Amino acid sequence: MNEESAATILPFVRPGRAPPKKLPQRAKKVIAIGGGKGGIGKSLVSANLAQALAQRGARVVVVDLDLGGANLHTCLGIAPPAVTLSDFVSHRVNSLDAALVPTGLERLQLISGASDALDAANPKHAAKGRLMRHLRSLDADYVLLDLGAGTGFNTLDFFLAADHGLVVLLPEPTSVENAYRFIKAAFFRKLQAVVRQETAETVGRVLAGKDPELRNPWDCVARLRERDPQAATELELALSGFHPFLVLNQARTRADFDVGATVALAWKKFFGLELGTLGSIAYDEAVWQAVRARKPFLVHAPESPAAHGLWRLAENLLSLAP
Ligand SMILES: Nc1ncnc2c1ncn2[C@@H]1O[C@H](COP(=O)(O)OP(=O)(O)OP(=O)(O)O)[C@@H](O)[C@H]1O
Ligand SMILES: [Mg+2]
Repeated sequence: MNEESAATILPFVRPGRAPPKKLPQRAKKVIAIGGGKGGIGKSLVSANLAQALAQRGARVVVVDLDLGGANLHTCLGIAPPAVTLSDFVSHRVNSLDAALVPTGLERLQLISGASDALDAANPKHAAKGRLMRHLRSLDADYVLLDLGAGTGFNTLDFFLAADHGLVVLLPEPTSVENAYRFIKAAFFRKLQAVVRQETAETVGRVLAGKDPELRNPWDCVARLRERDPQAATELELALSGFHPFLVLNQARTRADFDVGATVALAWKKFFGLELGTLGSIAYDEAVWQAVRARKPFLVHAPESPAAHGLWRLAENLLSLAP
């Protein structure tokens, strides 16, 4: 995702429309945090990762893009802000800066989603493009996007538009399946945006195991190379630019901590695609206690196992190539 980031890879702007207003791209890195299912810790990872990056000296904005069920403000221990993304999507404010609120934590600001505004919950195509451009122009080192659950197009588009996409999963077969589903859906969404329809359909058949000759998308590249080198190059670029990272949450046993790496290996073996693993976080009583205290667990229980896991995750993120 890295090199083809933001609206460049997605059809946020329909052909024939006037080009959108250019904005300075000030946000150095946009990180999206998603996952197949609800209640797996996306918001907690977002809030605490944001806090960790801020503690390391970065200027961070964490954005609640769970537009139907915003609750990130509660994870950060602040009251529902008066101005939210809903005001921006509905043009009541023209700049996202108006929706920035302090969190009481140094260098960390929040843009809250709105749980009650249907218009914001389902932004149209152009509104999504405008929102992404403005997110990129926020004056911050890191912009973290806390995505809603599921594989809706809005969620996938924001996941793909980020520089790095993190997929949270639990060490349970159902959650692993959901993570696969989420990643596959994101991959298809990307293919539909950047390769020809025929190519996307072929890859779809291959990933579904319905092609007797081709094993994985790289076989599709090799096959295309003979007939249509340009289409082969398009697909190759799409494949090599798709590199989500897994974050394993709620590990209870020693083996649980390795589930992310195992899933990544299986993904590589069956689909030929690279998945990174960014870290594992223990299941920890301190986490829900921090939620009840309305504080990031990094602040409420800085010595807890979950906090240690989160710090490793933050270090790994910081060490990713610029
Ligand atoms: N590592 C952990 N240890 C213990 N409890 C955890 C851990 N991670 C998450 N939880 C519990 O799971 C709950 C849900 O977490 P969170 O709200 O971050 O999930 P989510 O994926 O953002 O959900 P939604 O999709 O509904 O927004 C937390 O309130 C907490 O009680
Ligand atoms: Mg959430």
